[in-house]
Amino acid sequence: MKNLIIIDHPLVKRDLTILRNKKTPSHQFRAILQQTASLMAYEVSRDFQTKEISIQTPLEKTKGVIVEQQIVLVPILRAGLGLVGGFVDVMPNARVGHIGLFRDEETLKPVDYYFKVPRNLDKALVLLLDPMLATGGSAVAAISYLKKRGACNIRMVNLVAAPEGVKTVHKAHPDVTMYTCALDRELNNRGYILPGLGDAGDRMFGTE
Ligand code: PRP
Ligand code: URA
Repeated sequence: MKNLIIIDHPLVKRDLTILRNKKTPSHQFRAILQQTASLMAYEVSRDFQTKEISIQTPLEKTKGVIVEQQIVLVPILRAGLGLVGGFVDVMPNARVGHIGLFRDEETLKPVDYYFKVPRNLDKALVLLLDPMLATGGSAVAAISYLKKRGACNIRMVNLVAAPEGVKTVHKAHPDVTMYTCALDRELNNRGYILPGLGDAGDRMFGTE
């Protein structure tokens, strides 16, 4: 799969197993999703440039580094909200935008209802957050919107992706690198990922 990086760390695989389990209650689902997001953030930031600085320890002078990369996190509502906390834990200077989209249950096409993103997206690395990449319709729409608002450096971050979604995003936006913890088998006839974890938004918020 082109432009796809799979984060297959043992701790991520362990967390994903808990998230996939239908017996996992909402409160635990939210906590584990946030923890997994921090683990994903390490992988997504692996190639960030650092700048050397001088500091003084309590004993002597030494060199350290800072990360100057501007980051904008953009969760796709609702389920993307579950990834934000884990990312800001390790990227505390990140700014946060929001894109509201839901899939029409019949057509599976995305319906948009909210957009609010920070200024100067062109200077930032934009991390688009959504646990699920299924048909790819929501991701393609969100990326198109971000590009219209000036974003030119976008990474898509998903917990679980379907091959159909990865292909669709790559075809529409070949410049976007996708990160996922699992590339699942396929979509069912209602557009759900198999084996997947069900409806991520409903599982997070208990709205089934
Ligand atoms: C889910 C998920 C993605 C989308 C993926 O959101 O969080 O945004 O579906 O499907 P796609 O790749 O086929 O577009 P949903 O529409 O269920 O909204 P919700 O997060 O508000 O529950
Ligand atoms: N959205 C979800 O929340 N889960 C899926 O399996 C597909 C789309």
